Order: sequence, then structure tokens, then C-alpha cells
Amino acid sequence: MSQRGVSRGGGAAFRDPGQDGMLHRAFLRGTGLSAEDVRRSPVIGIATSASDLNPCNLGTTALVERIKEGVRSAGGLPLAFPTISVSEPFTRPTSLYLRNLLSMDVEEMITGSPVDGVVLVGGCDKTVPAQIMGALSAGKPAAVLTAGPRMPTSFGRHENFTIDDIWPVCEARRVGEVSDEEWVQLERCAIGGVGTCNVMGTAITMAAVAEVLGFSLPGSSLPPATSDVREELAFRTGEAIVAATRAGQVPGELVSMKSLENAFRVVSALGGSTNAVIHLEAIAGRAGHVLGMRRFSEWSATTPHVADVRPSGQYSLAALETAGGVPAVLNRIRDLVHLDTVTVTGRTWKEHLDSRDFPSHPAIAGSVPLAPRGGLVVLHGNLAPCGAVLKVAGVHDERLQRHRGRAVVFEGLADLNARIDDPDLPADADSVLVLRGMGVIGAPGMPEVGHIPVPAKLRRAGVRDMLRISDARMSGTATGTVVLHVTPEAAVGGPLGLVREGDEIELDVAAGTIRVVLSPEELARRCSATPPPQPPRGYAWLHHQHALQADQGCDFDFLRPDFRARADAAG
Ligand code: FES
Repeated sequence: MSQRGVSRGGGAAFRDPGQDGMLHRAFLRGTGLSAEDVRRSPVIGIATSASDLNPCNLGTTALVERIKEGVRSAGGLPLAFPTISVSEPFTRPTSLYLRNLLSMDVEEMITGSPVDGVVLVGGCDKTVPAQIMGALSAGKPAAVLTAGPRMPTSFGRHENFTIDDIWPVCEARRVGEVSDEEWVQLERCAIGGVGTCNVMGTAITMAAVAEVLGFSLPGSSLPPATSDVREELAFRTGEAIVAATRAGQVPGELVSMKSLENAFRVVSALGGSTNAVIHLEAIAGRAGHVLGMRRFSEWSATTPHVADVRPSGQYSLAALETAGGVPAVLNRIRDLVHLDTVTVTGRTWKEHLDSRDFPSHPAIAGSVPLAPRGGLVVLHGNLAPCGAVLKVAGVHDERLQRHRGRAVVFEGLADLNARIDDPDLPADADSVLVLRGMGVIGAPGMPEVGHIPVPAKLRRAGVRDMLRISDARMSGTATGTVVLHVTPEAAVGGPLGLVREGDEIELDVAAGTIRVVLSPEELARRCSATPPPQPPRGYAWLHHQHALQADQGCDFDFLRPDFRARADAAG
């Protein structure tokens, strides 16, 4: 079939009186739509990442139908389309490795398809930031509907068993404290249905980010995946995107320095996932903004930690929802945020917050916060000149917040797995476990392996937390004194690659520092790690060539709007 005369990628293609318009309408009429249906306007794409290979997102298939109903009720024409889907548990080498590919898929499908606006439907950790990044680059009106958390289960004597409860069982299994029978039972009970992880891990943190940025409806992050409330949210999201599209509200209007600050302050107040630092920088970059680790540090230092929610706190997501959800957290810190930022509803956050009451609830601290500073701390020092991140809300042993110990160094995952439980491992409770070669280039894609297990011999002796440092990431559902995203990573010459077994490493959370106790002269004398070989072709080559470091969001340099100007300036 030939294509003639219609400009690329807008719903106007269906309203064109000529050959292209006729063919566009004819193809949809062939699917059973009426003459009236194919002339509805605006045309709303629904980008869905539902996939059998991504169980966290599977429940969204039903939600897409409700979005369609919302779009139709507002006069629009809904057309759903699939994108690739990046699953946290299944994707190797790591889901972050494919986040940028998903964002490119989303961008090109929105740009190249005859749609005027789009609803992005995702949930599992990387899908939501990738979709927002793609939509920002595409520049058409966009709304987000997140999948919502799955329901807790029960396991043994545990009621309300959530994803973070799995990790201690796995740790106990490593040292022989969990029977084969319990292990089989865990497989059956651990995941109780579709939906995202059911604590304030990366998925729900990024749902909160989408909500605060204004892409998803206020109050939409926490209702369960399979609830009536989420179906209603889907319907209302369909209505909202039609209105936003008619109003010409493009994603760049939602993502401003003000809304990005709001998003990070809410993540800090929630004690949310460290992964949010990477994704927020990447989202900012697509909108032409740079946040920078120093700014994250400043915002974190001046935002109280107020949400007492799992995995670092004691309350469930359901309790946080009862407390008023993300809007209640935003309201709790309203003196620190910019309430004139607009949402996909067309209303400002001030209008939303002022239209409802927020009764007090123990899941959100009142006038006395859980901690005066946010749950995420940015660290700098000679070990991380461009920054590192620690979820201080998840530290189990407070003494480790100021700690000096001798390094035990692991060269990648294979070395870690081979030696961590060796009875002769030269480690004691004060040791600092170092894992390197796990960065965005080194691994590649920064796998979530920074939560180095406590060596079996120390665990048997009662040790539950140690200082751990890596250029990897960590699941948002994990906790502990785990310094992550050390930048630059070892594989590109970062100082983490210079550390030797027995060197002293010092963490001072109050001062925001992470350093190896070596002189600049000694560091300069040492040879940095050998970079991994360049892959010969394909996406692996593209990633190796173009992925930015963690402090720049791990996006591809050429996907940023200023790429051409920077390349030209560099000659
Ligand atoms: Fe998909 Fe946690 S593994 S949301």
C-alpha cells in the first residue's frame, strides 16, 4: 500500500478527505469500527506493556479496556498498541539495560502513529520511567496509568507477606535455616497475583514520581492492581487524556525544574527507592533539564522523612493509602514544594490538595518526622567523585552511618558468588564489602546486585548488616547499609577500581562522604580496572557506546535534546 501526502504521525490522518484518510478509516472499519467511530477526535493511543514475560504488568490488560471506555465517553477514539516490556525479575543482564530501548520504542510508536495523545500503561520498575522518557521525546500529550501493587499474601506464620519479606527468607536459606518444605511453600506463596511489588520499592516509588510530576491522576499510585478503584482510575485517565489533548498539554509542560524538585522531595519523604535518582535524572534530561547529584543532596537534606512505610518502615501500602496516599505526603511537606505545578487534569497541585482533607494517620508522621532529612542520602568523596547513593531509611545498624573498616573486594558477580560464603573469607563484622564491575558499562546495565549478602559465617554469628559499596544498583525492596551507584564506575576508570583488599574505607552519612583512606599520590600510582571489551554489534554496541553514567541518569547521550549541539561543540 502506498502512503501519500499525510504528515507523519497525527490523528488528523483519519480526518483527511483524500486517499490517505480514506485508507486510514477503511483499515479501522475493517476491524469492526463504525463510520462514526473512525471520525472521533482526538485519537488516543494506549501504549501497553502488558506481557506474559512481565507478570507485574499483566493486570493492565483489563485496565486498557476501561481506559478505552473513558476515552470514548469523552468523544475520543482509543487505539491500543503494544510496546516491549521490561520485567525486573526476568530480564538479563538487567532491566535497566533495556530501559532506553523501551523508551525509544515508545517514542517512535507515538511519533510515527496516527495518534494525537497517548496513555502510557506500565508498572514494573523500568516501564514507567521509560514510557515517560519516550513520551517526553515524542512531545504529544501523555498520561500515565500505573499497574498498582499486587495484594500481600501469607507465608507460614506471616500475615501480610510482602516482597521485602522474601529476602530474609532467602538469606536464612543460604545458611541452612529454611527447610526444603518451607522453600517449596515460599515459591507457592511469595507472589499472590498480578501487579507490582507491594512495598515502597522502585515500582511504587516511580508510580509516585509519575503522580507528582502530573502524568497520572492524583491519588492513583497506591490502590491495588485488581481493585475497583484502579478500574475507575483507568476510566478517568481515559477521560483526562482526551481533555489534556484538546487543551494541547504536552509532556514538557509537566516536567519542569519545579515538578522535578517536587518529585524528588516526595521520594525523600517516602524513603523511596534509590533507583529514583537515576530515573529522575534521565526524565529531566529528556525535558532539557539537569538536576545533578549536588541538588539531590540539598533537597534530601532539607526534606523530612515522613512516610513510615515498608520496606524501611512498619506500615503497609494499604495503610499509606488510608492515610491519603501520595497527595497526603505532598500535603505533609507542602511548605517545601511548588504547588503551582500543573497535572494532567489541568488543575494545579494546590487545587487538588485544597479540595480535600487529610486526617492524621500513623503511617505519615505528624509534626515530628521520622527523621529530619530524607530517606536518600547522596555521598561524595575520593571513592565517588561524581556521587553515590545510600537509602539511609533502610540502614539497620545505626552505628554504620559513621564507620571505618577494611575492604574485602569482589571483582564482579562470579567472584562474589564464589567466595562470599567461603569460611576463609577475610571478613569480620566491621569489614566493608566492595563489589565492582557492576556499573552501567561494566555489567552492563547496573544490575540490582549491590545488596551484597552478609557472609554466611558472619550471619551465623548474628551479624545482620554491614557496610557494602558497589557501582551496582539495588532493589527498591531491599534495605541495609548499602552504598550504591558509585560514580564513575570502576569499568570506566572510577576510583572504586583502585581499591585493594585491606584498604580502609570510611563512610560518614552526616558529612555526606564516602572515601578510601589513601593519599591522592597513592591513588594516582595505582592502575585502574580494565574496561570491558566493546561488543561487536547490535544493541550491546549501542549501549556500550552511548550509555551515560549513573549521575546522568544512564540515558543514551543521543536521546537528549541537546545532543546535536553538544556533539557540534565537541567538534
Ligand atoms: Fe516488577 Fe517489582 S519485580 S514491580
